[in-house]
Amino acid sequence: MNALESRPLRTLVFDDRGDADRSVAREIAELVRAKPTAVLGLATGNTPVGVYAELARMHRDEALDFSGVVTFNLDEYLDLSPGDPRAFRRWMQARFFDHVNVRCENARFPECDAARAPSDPIAGRPIERFADACERYERAIRSAGGIDVLILGIGRNGHIGFNEPGSTRGSRTRIVELEATTRADAAHVFGDLENVPRRAITMGIATILESRAIRAMAFGRIKAPIVSRTLAEPISPALPATFLREHADATLYLDRDAAAEIAR
Ligand code: GLP
Repeated sequence: MNALESRPLRTLVFDDRGDADRSVAREIAELVRAKPTAVLGLATGNTPVGVYAELARMHRDEALDFSGVVTFNLDEYLDLSPGDPRAFRRWMQARFFDHVNVRCENARFPECDAARAPSDPIAGRPIERFADACERYERAIRSAGGIDVLILGIGRNGHIGFNEPGSTRGSRTRIVELEATTRADAAHVFGDLENVPRRAITMGIATILESRAIRAMAFGRIKAPIVSRTLAEPISPALPATFLREHADATLYLDRDAAAEIAR
């Protein structure tokens, strides 16, 4: 094991998940107050819902102003029809954007530059034809000044964003095939497994690690095995979440259940 592999990830364990949510939300609020044009990286999934709810509360009760904030979502399914209610864009709208004042044009998603005209459908489009859209997303992040803080969840198989096992340290925004466990975890949203998209577009590991700060979260007993592996296994593409240990300002927020299998 080299020095990098033994590097720890700053890990905070909370008795109550709500305290973790509030702690992350408070940090984001402080950033937005200090830098009204802050750039946020956002994740979907069950994990960050409490953070979004708390930020929405702060907008409502404490006039937290997002009008200058720019957001970049981590990932999006491919091959859904435009406006599909299961798309992450719609999910973010319902959970966050409808409740705060982020400007529509400032809420970016990785598929946003991929044309969605009937003459140029996304469904079935070969991977090479997304190269420009992927490159444009990377450029958009850079020209916004880079991501100040990225909120992150961890998949049961160790994915971050949709960077499934096998994703390399240098990977960038690209089209990926989803693993069976990832699709199985999303089956309840799509009615059954067959309806879950097989492809997604995601920021890469390199894109994620360029964020100035990363606040990763994992809650519940179901995340305990992957949390303990993320902290203990060698940093490698076999477990993409281990790359978080290479970041100078990444913190992992856990509840007691998610921390239950961490080796002492
Ligand atoms: C999803 C998303 C990730 C998310 C992860 C964990 O598939 N692509 O961005 O962090 O899986 O999801 P959850 O928070 O629901 O456990």
